[in-house]
Formats: sequence, structure tokens, C-alpha cells
Amino acid sequence: MTFHHKVAWITGASSGIGEALAIELARQGARLVLSARRIDELQRVATATGLEADQLLILPLDVTDEASIPERVNDVLIRFGKIDYVFLNAGISQRSFVQETNFAVYRRLMEVNFFGAVALTQAALPVMLAQKKGHFVVTSSVSGKIGVRQRSGYCASKHALHGFFDSLRAEVANDGLNVTIVCPGYIQTPISQSALDASGYAYGRSDKHQAEGMPVDRFVSRMLKAVAKEREEVYIGGRELTGIYLKRFFPGLLSRILRNRIVEQ
Ligand SMILES: NC(=O)c1ccc[n+]([C@@H]2O[C@H](COP(=O)([O-])OP(=O)(O)OC[C@H]3O[C@@H](n4cnc5c(N)ncnc54)[C@H](OP(=O)(O)O)[C@@H]3O)[C@@H](O)[C@H]2O)c1
Repeated sequence: MTFHHKVAWITGASSGIGEALAIELARQGARLVLSARRIDELQRVATATGLEADQLLILPLDVTDEASIPERVNDVLIRFGKIDYVFLNAGISQRSFVQETNFAVYRRLMEVNFFGAVALTQAALPVMLAQKKGHFVVTSSVSGKIGVRQRSGYCASKHALHGFFDSLRAEVANDGLNVTIVCPGYIQTPISQSALDASGYAYGRSDKHQAEGMPVDRFVSRMLKAVAKEREEVYIGGRELTGIYLKRFFPGLLSRILRNRIVEQ
């Protein structure tokens, strides 16, 4: 019953993990705010949730347009009067080596994956503090815990989320607010399609790791259990999670494994 009647705002709701979150949260009785850039895809997801129009708000949003975000928070309050959960899930990946990567690609990855989450958090925070209740759920990655080849900017943006949201948790824990950071391993979504190549174009291909990864519904079911338990940080995936523990206990061994890892191209 954790999510019953709660207002959950999901960014990146037009695809993949965000889409599966919307469907599962609707099944568990939540009211939803669905945000991403592609309105047609948001409409498709809205229909798939089966929610009545008064239980759902389609709120198109580019998370890099920080000036528009306070107004979007207001839209949610006008519609539902509160915000219980913000799922900071919008993200893009990368497929390029440092040596070849255009600097603008780094800016873009940070803008979407890091600053987008910071901007929405800062705008929603006063609402949650006034409510004395609220939960930020951040989609990081195993790449938020270790650095891997061809993901330098992606890993940096995900590592940055940990620094920011660990700090936020320490600041607001005594105000009744929660922060859960979720680190997925390989999950079956189209994320590699929109990953940026060295010049900032979409990679546009599916990736073997994601294709063979955890089904997205199974991932989301485990993610929401962790959120319901108010876990601070959780790792969900397959064998690739071993990297996180190797980094913690045997960093030299992980470094040798990663430098010899064959990458897809
Ligand atoms: N799949 C995995 O294996 C995996 C592993 C680790 C972490 N993750 C993380 O999981 C999150 C969701 O990714 P996914 O796997 O579900 O990939 P996905 O299917 O490609 O979904 C990405 C979502 O982000 C949205 N988005 C991208 N740029 C945006 C922007 N500027 N403003 C607003 N929304 C934007 C996209 O919507 P629009 O294009 O419509 O804007 C889309 O809904 C990401 O943060 C990703 O880094 C995924």
C-alpha cells in the first residue's frame, strides 16, 4: 500500500525504466506525473497505465531547461496539491573514448544526467520541506560507482549524483525527507539508441549488454520494493554488480579486469 494515493512524478517517463515505473506505480494505486520531451510517447505510456485522466498529468519537460522547472512544479501542485515522490530518472548514455570525444558531449551528459536532476530537486525541495514529507528517488547506475571504458562522461555524471544526493540526504533526513539512489546494472531498455557518440550524435544501435540484461519489469519491481523500504542506496542487476564490490574490496583487481575488457563498437 506504500504508493496508494501517492503523487509520483517520473522524469524519463516516455521509455524504458520510467515507462515501466509508471505502469507499476499505477497498478499500485499511485497518481502520476509523467515527464519527458516526447509528448506522443508520454501519451502512449499514459494510456498503458490505464489511469483515468484525473489521476494522471502529462507534463512535457526537457530537464535541461532549468528556467521552466519551477513553473512545472507549480503545475503539479495546482493539479494534485502535493508531491510525494520525485523519480529523477531521465538520462542519456555515451559510447566514445576520451581521446575522440567532443567537449560538448561532456557538457550535454552533465546537463541531462546531473544538472537536470539538481534543478528539479531544488525546485521540488521547498514543497517537500513544507509537507515535512517527500522522497527523491535517483536513477544512478553501476557506472555511478565505477569508471568504465567509453563512458567517461556518463560515469562522471552518475558519480556526481552520488555526491549531491548523499549530501542532500544528510541535510534533510531530520525533516522527514528520504533519498534513495538506485544503481541499475544492465537492464533491457533502448538506452543505447540515444547514447551520444564522440560527436554528440545518437549511437542508434542496440547494445548486447542491455539486450541480455534484466527485464525492465523485474528491475522496477525490485526498485519499488527498495523505495518502499526507504533504502538509501541499492544495486539491482546481474553479474555486473560484482564490479561494485570489487571496487570496494579489491580495487586493483577491478582495475586490471576493466583495462582488458573488450568493448563493443
Ligand atoms: N538501461 C540500463 O541498462 C541502465 C543502466 C544503468 C542506469 N540506467 C539509467 O536509467 C535511466 C533511464 O534510462 P532507460 O534505460 O530507461 O533509457 P531510455 O529508455 O532511453 O529512457 C531515457 C529517458 O530519459 C528521457 N530523457 C532523455 N533526455 C531528456 C531530457 N533532456 N529531458 C527530459 N527527459 C529526457 C527520455 O525521454 P525523451 O527522449 O522523450 O525526452 C527517456 O524517457 C537513465 O538515467 C539511465 O542512465 C539505465
